[in-house]
Amino acid sequence: MSSPKHIAVIMDGNGRWAKARGHNRVFGHVRGMKTVRKTVECAAELGLEQLTLFALSNENWSRPEFEILSLMKILRKFLKTELKFLLKNNIRLITIGDISRLPEDIQAMLAETKKATETNDGLCLCLAISYGSKQEIRSAVQRIARKAVSDPSFIDKISTETISDELETAELSDPDMIIRTSGEYRLSNFLLFQAAYSELYFTDKLWPDFSKQDFIEAIDWYHSRERRFGKTSAQVHTQNTSPEISL
Ligand code: FPP
Repeated sequence: MSSPKHIAVIMDGNGRWAKARGHNRVFGHVRGMKTVRKTVECAAELGLEQLTLFALSNENWSRPEFEILSLMKILRKFLKTELKFLLKNNIRLITIGDISRLPEDIQAMLAETKKATETNDGLCLCLAISYGSKQEIRSAVQRIARKAVSDPSFIDKISTETISDELETAELSDPDMIIRTSGEYRLSNFLLFQAAYSELYFTDKLWPDFSKQDFIEAIDWYHSRERRFGKTSAQVHTQNTSPEISL
């Protein structure tokens, strides 16, 4: 099994981690930010090409105002303190999601960080912020429908690649593995189209406790998987598997 090129992570469990220690949920997000740094560092050290982190969903906007304001503060701090780290480690930052909903200063910081790191050719760090997969697919369908209205012959040319190319992740490969922490077993509106053949890795660890070692264990598990993409195991292991059949 070749090494994963793209790993995506649903960073879950910050609130429970904080509550279990008698703290406000926000304390868990603060610790979660430290885990983000460690995970990015580890991914870069391992030579991973793409890492997507689910930092805020469309649906998360309906959380209590205090939590949202605190998450914005954390994002601000992250962008302020991590630019040096991204540059030093040759990491390129991109985002997916509707960042127009973020405070203007954060939008500006994101634009600055993306610009400053755009020529880096090491790890591509994709932050999914204000992201929802259903909304992403809806926008892609709208763009495709508009093209079809102006050119009806386009309808028959629509392929699965056409759809991939209209998604916000167009420049990324589909995730080879999706990790979700905190013992929840769902995708929560994350990369639904792109996850068609992703290996799904679930761990009970809460995000603030997720260590570099846990990340490496997840990758080891990935290496133990047989990815068949709908083929048989024999096909995956050999070139020509057509036996003589008499009917
Ligand atoms: C889910 O845990 C986590 C979030 C909604 C926010 C993720 C944010 C971070 C990891 C920190 C900052 C990130 C960056 C990129 C700087 P939850 O709050 O739903 O946990 P719970 O299920 O235990 O309540």
